Amino acid sequence: MISENIKEFASFFDSVIERLAPSAGEKIPVIDKAMRYSLLAGGKRLRPYLMATGFEAFSNTGWEDDALVPSFATAIEMIHTYSLIHDDLPALDDDDLRRGKETSHIVFGEDIAILAGDGLLNSAFELMSIALEYAGASAGERKSVEQTVLRGVKAMAYIARSAGISGMIGGQVIDVKGQARDLSSLVSMYEKKTGALLSAALTGGAILGGASAADIRRIEEAALKTGVAFQIQDDILDVVGDESMIGKPVGSDEKRAQVTYVSLCGLEQAERDVEKLLAEAKDVLKETDGHCDRIAALIDSLSGRSY
Ligand code: IPE
Ligand code: IPE
Ligand code: MG
Ligand code: MG
Ligand code: MG
Repeated sequence: MISENIKEFASFFDSVIERLAPSAGEKIPVIDKAMRYSLLAGGKRLRPYLMATGFEAFSNTGWEDDALVPSFATAIEMIHTYSLIHDDLPALDDDDLRRGKETSHIVFGEDIAILAGDGLLNSAFELMSIALEYAGASAGERKSVEQTVLRGVKAMAYIARSAGISGMIGGQVIDVKGQARDLSSLVSMYEKKTGALLSAALTGGAILGGASAADIRRIEEAALKTGVAFQIQDDILDVVGDESMIGKPVGSDEKRAQVTYVSLCGLEQAERDVEKLLAEAKDVLKETDGHCDRIAALIDSLSGRSY
């Protein structure tokens, strides 16, 4: 069951989004309206939470007071939200419900839904760049300012790669083209379409927090395992979930005759493999020098999640 910690975080995080999300201004209100409609529709805020806990595992300071983490976490949620808007479009999964509300293209039309997705993606990078610019200009000790900016640039590059053609976009391409037909190709596809963005959040947080190169690799491995488990559970919920809990249609994969982990190996093996992957992810975390208790608790709470 998703823990109380993340629920508390999610309601607080809305205020961070409200404060930081870029706006197009009064002249083109429809794009702001469409972007905010999807961004503030709820959602578990799992990725910002992973970034915050990934950061705090390696840093001695809280994420909220950091010069970069609030903006980077908001940016990750913007990228994730854009990916959902586009994933739901008629040309992709053709779904009409998301986060318990009508999908963007149902409310605003396909044209604005596509542009709202584009807007969120670009605004995410605008937000991270602005945070870097401010951090670079801040009056701190020169060496620590330089270190903050360097870590920020590294994290931003990692996020861009994870969200892009070698990560999420690449995974979505393999998915929509139905190119993953056996279990091992499906797992590699899940690492990209879902694991990569979870890793952008968790590993991005660890990079910002100053993790060593070896720990960054371990955190990435744990994040990818968690991401694959998360996607398998998403497939399970597409079959046995409750629409009012998951906030999106049940049976979407079957409707499109989508190959999923469940269609390939059945519910029982899928459930077992979620547990196995989550346990492996926690084992990898133990090898790091970070304080990973909260990440491990979050991973525990993903086991058997119902939304
Ligand atoms: C949905 O992600 C897309 C997948 C990768 C399975 P979430 O289940 O995290 O969606 P929200 O953010 O809570 O709406
Ligand atoms: C999509 O996977 C993951 C993304 C990269 C958006 P799904 O298509 O299974 O996600 P849901 O079930 O629509 O949230
Ligand atoms: Mg999809
Ligand atoms: Mg979908
Ligand atoms: Mg799904």
